[in-house]
Amino acid sequence: MDCFEVIGGTPLQGEVEVAGSKNGTLPLMAAALLSNESSQLDGVPALRDIHTLAELLSSLGLNTRFVAQSLQLVPSGQDLWQAPYDLVRRMRASVCVLGPLLARTGHASVPLPGGCVLGVRPIDLHLRGMESLGAKVDLAEGCVLATAPKGGLPGGEVDLSGPRGSTVLGTANVLMAATLAKGESVLRGAACEPEIVVLIDFLNSAGAQIEGGGTATLRVQGVDEIHGLKGNVPPDRIEAGTLLLAAAMTRGHVKLTRCPVPQLQALLDTLELAGVPLERGSDWVRVHAEGAIFRNPVIQTAPYPGYPTDLQAQWMAFATQAEGTTLIREGIYPERFLHAAELVRLGAQIEVSDGSARVHGPTRLSGAPVLASDLRASAALVLAGLVAEGKTVVKRVYHLDRGYERLEEKLSSLGASVRRVVDEMGP
Ligand code: EPZ
Repeated sequence: MDCFEVIGGTPLQGEVEVAGSKNGTLPLMAAALLSNESSQLDGVPALRDIHTLAELLSSLGLNTRFVAQSLQLVPSGQDLWQAPYDLVRRMRASVCVLGPLLARTGHASVPLPGGCVLGVRPIDLHLRGMESLGAKVDLAEGCVLATAPKGGLPGGEVDLSGPRGSTVLGTANVLMAATLAKGESVLRGAACEPEIVVLIDFLNSAGAQIEGGGTATLRVQGVDEIHGLKGNVPPDRIEAGTLLLAAAMTRGHVKLTRCPVPQLQALLDTLELAGVPLERGSDWVRVHAEGAIFRNPVIQTAPYPGYPTDLQAQWMAFATQAEGTTLIREGIYPERFLHAAELVRLGAQIEVSDGSARVHGPTRLSGAPVLASDLRASAALVLAGLVAEGKTVVKRVYHLDRGYERLEEKLSSLGASVRRVVDEMGP
């Protein structure tokens, strides 16, 4: 098992390009199940989650092949509709195959993904949505079994709003099912995240009829079939945000290119409130934080265009370097604070209670071995290591490899001392 050895204290400097988006690519891959034609996605990041979904799609009769940064998805002509538990349990986003399988074959059997370190993470909104489109949904032996009426899903009125706003993958899932429905569907309370807008653009280019992308109401006129999906996946807003926070907290000077600037509005505004000097263009951002003193704006995570929960852990690492007490409220996953205890091992002063954290700063962090609990928590620990005195060893970086493409190489190219090594001590 690999770990990262990070020696802190070097301000990041230089220029780096943002990779393709993990959360943008996953629903596009699942959407390739909707078509009888081959799909090709370009600029796909080399990530563990992408490979896991590719394996799952192959088990469902969609052959996948990586050629450099392109992913080809070629239907084998077999109408397989039962997703194997061994693959689904590895990644929650696997639930995204439910909608396309149901729409194309009339059946889908997908094991319930179960909870994860972010909390319980139900899929009730996905299932309610499929029922509203006319599917029969049963739960048995840990599996969801969804069946369309003879002749296909009729389509219908769907409400996707849940206790914490909409659901991103739930919107993608129901939208994909509605694409091939017999009639019109209206999805209310839909997620407005950029990843949903991208999915709609790709589907419409392939012949789907979907209106309202980027708003809470989507109108879908079902079509009989769509072509293969083709195009470039967009840059990853969460990788971009992570790199910007790394540049800021090391008081570095970094230009980020191929940067999805409009999608990062909430982060960029908050960085400016925190006193981080920034310049931005249409697709680049430059942080020049040499000698900056950081303030402590309140962070409240919320659905897009609010501050993203996937950048909450990284902000917590940043907040250890800001003056005074930073209040962080987690509005999407109230239990997403496992990184706090590990940051405390590095010397951070953090209290967590009732879905909020208070970070008292600035603190001089000092290197230590720490355990990554999930993808974004791992990134936060690496960021903390970049400013800690001495050596920080971040264990279980397989979490990080799920969503960051060669992060150690990107940070090293900016002058950081980050090394991937085999963890001799084990997990
Ligand atoms: C997506 O997960 C992302 N994953 C997550 O990124 C991200 O944290 C999350 O959206 C929120 O932005 C992918 O895109 C692959 P949700 P998703 O359904 O769609 C509740 C990362 O680090 N809810 O929008 O599964 C849920 O419990 C990952 O890259 C229900 O109550 O999240 C949560 O409180 C982690 N019932 C809220 O809604 C449901 O049926 C939002 O979850 C579904 C969700």
